[in-house]
Amino acid sequence: MAILKVAQLGNPVLRKKGEPVPVEDIPSEPIQRLIDDMIDTMREYSGVGLAAPQVHESRQILTLEAEGNPRYSDVPEIELMVLINPKIEKFSNEMDEDWEGCLSLTDIWGKVRRATAITVSAYDREGTPVTIEAEGFLARVLQHEIDHVYGKVFVDRMTDMSTLSFGRERMRYSAHEDEDVTEDMDDQI
Ligand code: NI
Repeated sequence: MAILKVAQLGNPVLRKKGEPVPVEDIPSEPIQRLIDDMIDTMREYSGVGLAAPQVHESRQILTLEAEGNPRYSDVPEIELMVLINPKIEKFSNEMDEDWEGCLSLTDIWGKVRRATAITVSAYDREGTPVTIEAEGFLARVLQHEIDHVYGKVFVDRMTDMSTLSFGRERMRYSAHEDEDVTEDMDDQI
């Protein structure tokens, strides 16, 4: 168990496509230890997701988890999820725009347009193939994290940079502009 250092924007590891993990290597000690360390790191920094390149490991592994915030009854929860070699198989035509932050862009936020629903294929940490049908907040977090394993960060997806904000200013001017649940999202993706 270890809390790993999180790479910040400008570190080339964030811009490299991660190596797929050979399925036969998934049960191996180094991969399982990396997954455990990623979970610890994600929880330590209150992320709702973390991708291996963010901890300087150029591999296609990601972890997700979000717990409900007792102050807001409608904040979506995401149970702990570990995905290896994730691929987005299908995007909905419908898109929406919402705030995203990132542990690799400390305290920077922006509104990003994403598909509202996606289908993802991947392996779980046992090496079993899984298919995930995701919508809403989970679909958004998955698109953000899967971007990381392909060397992309959320600002690459912003079509209008005018919402790019520091956290404090976002809270002050934008956080309560409407009732959308993820407007109140405190955790960084
Ligand atoms: Ni991120």
